[in-house]
Amino acid sequence: MSEEKNLNNESPLSLLIHRRLSRRQALQYGLSAFLASAMPGLGQAETLKGLIGFKAIDIAHLIDEVIVPEGYDARIFYRWGDPVSDGPSFKIDASNSAQEQLQQAGMHHDALQFFPFPTSLEQEQSNHGLLVMNHEYIDPQLLHADGGFMDSPESYSAEKVKKEQYAHGVSVIEIKKTEDWQIVRPSTYARRITARTAMSVSGPVAGSDFIRTSVDPQGKEILGTLNNCSNGKTPWGTYLTCEENFNGYFQLATAEMLDERQRELMQRYELGTSYYGWQQHDKRFDLESEPNEANRFGWIVEFDPFDPASKPVKRTALGRFAHENVAHKVAKDNRIAFYSGDDAKFEYIYKFITEKSWDGSLGAQNGQLMDEGILYVAQLNENGSGIWLPLVFGEGKLTSEAGFSDQADVLVHARLAADYLSATPMDRPEWITVNPDSGDVLVSLTNNSSRGQQDKPNAHSANPRANNQFGHIIKITEQDASSTHFNWDVVVLAGDKQSDSTIRGDQYANPDGLMIDKRGVLWVQTDVSSMRLNTGSFAQFGNNQMLAVDLNTQETRRFLTGPIGCEITGVTMTDDQKTMWVNVQHPGEVPSILKQKGVIKSPQHPNAASNWPDKKPNGRPRSATVVITKRDGGVIGT
Ligand code: FEO
Ligand code: CA
Ligand code: CA
Repeated sequence: MSEEKNLNNESPLSLLIHRRLSRRQALQYGLSAFLASAMPGLGQAETLKGLIGFKAIDIAHLIDEVIVPEGYDARIFYRWGDPVSDGPSFKIDASNSAQEQLQQAGMHHDALQFFPFPTSLEQEQSNHGLLVMNHEYIDPQLLHADGGFMDSPESYSAEKVKKEQYAHGVSVIEIKKTEDWQIVRPSTYARRITARTAMSVSGPVAGSDFIRTSVDPQGKEILGTLNNCSNGKTPWGTYLTCEENFNGYFQLATAEMLDERQRELMQRYELGTSYYGWQQHDKRFDLESEPNEANRFGWIVEFDPFDPASKPVKRTALGRFAHENVAHKVAKDNRIAFYSGDDAKFEYIYKFITEKSWDGSLGAQNGQLMDEGILYVAQLNENGSGIWLPLVFGEGKLTSEAGFSDQADVLVHARLAADYLSATPMDRPEWITVNPDSGDVLVSLTNNSSRGQQDKPNAHSANPRANNQFGHIIKITEQDASSTHFNWDVVVLAGDKQSDSTIRGDQYANPDGLMIDKRGVLWVQTDVSSMRLNTGSFAQFGNNQMLAVDLNTQETRRFLTGPIGCEITGVTMTDDQKTMWVNVQHPGEVPSILKQKGVIKSPQHPNAASNWPDKKPNGRPRSATVVITKRDGGVIGT
């Protein structure tokens, strides 16, 4: 990073420590009053009663089950390989063809959203709808009988590449509750969107030189979406899927032909090494052949789940980076703000404000609003104030002198543009959620063990730990969604009681998924990596989990623990709050502690420490959605 770029972290360390302590003191002594003021809709009586009624569960240390509190049921609902409609069934030996995978759930379920069918009957709304979810990435060793390119390069084939691409993307399934929740099969709404589905491009980057390729010389149509991590919903009822670690799909054999600027851009997006080897059979992923293909990913993609024929649209005005998720807030004048974090160490938090207002009568046509507006990046000052800095070509440093040619250039290289504006580098921004009552914006910062190391930014009061193993959550408060100024505070430091955690109640580490429900309960999902899971200072947290936080009292109770090696990611509820769906991603990814001990669940799959959810001897672990209900038919969390 050159000197003229981000100079935001150069405050003297002593000053930072002083500021950090005073913020921490505020946290310890004033937090509940502070949070209670964020929930103006609730009366004193409700505040005192507490929002959480279930009995917390213990940590699960290497237990291979989903566990929920007494009085609740968690049932397996939709696994990798299950048909979306009336297509082919999953074969346990992974012998399903690419064409079959195209009609089945993808791998590695991530965020999900429930879309009720439009009806005026409140009861009906919570009994029938579409469940839409992301399939973030794949494990080739489980997807194919003899593994992927890294395992068996000699048998890697165009068919395998296709199967891997079809196991990515999004599922739309129709679901209905009669006695219990079921997937409707066949369904005319059922749909798979994959890494090969044709999509259009809108906004300033559409048609620009940056995204023109040999198969798409106009830069108007992109095949597929990649690494769909978390998601969002628009106020007009469409689904937004976020492209996160797209960089790992592209191979660059040599950087020799690149000029200095091209090298800088590739490095800033960590491009060049492919995880899977698709470039062997699909030239799109060979950056030497198609240097612009990587510019066609890293976007937020919108589609209407109720229109199965609708073509997804890459909304480029929202910038290109490793989008974790997207949350929105409606301004007083009905313009919409979209918030999205860039999940990598020392990356930034962004907000896009539409130029025009949302018109409820236009339905899905409101999507065009996302094509005009301003993308901002957050600068968090040490004193608790902050500013949204506009990423606009020609303004400030974003000129031809800095190497930018136009607004498309600024958006395609949003990370670099944000560096020039001295945005605040954060500890891996994961999910963002908006409090439906107060409008407060919560951001989980999952971890960053590199802060304070040589040549890396020192602790900042918004990222106050030099070696942030456990993660934290901050809150951004604004007058209105259209505001360009804000205040921020650290709302919780995760981790253990022996260190500096400020959790009240059950402890956890590495917050990732966040959702505030209609009652004001914050659901926190964790993602401790398998390197650390169940070992050392992380053993005390057990398997990955989901907790409920009463935002009035800050009380935190553990609600769900996942099977061995999994991450818990993705949560959605019906409007009546009586059904919840949660995704269990990469069960069986081997925690390093089990690798060391040589413990495996399934001899045929030396890289699987679980055979959840099927529990068949030698069965493969499968990412899956679980549906959670309360036995007395009540609201989840009470
Ligand atoms: Fe896909 Fe940052 O988690
Ligand atoms: Ca995540
Ligand atoms: Ca994560």
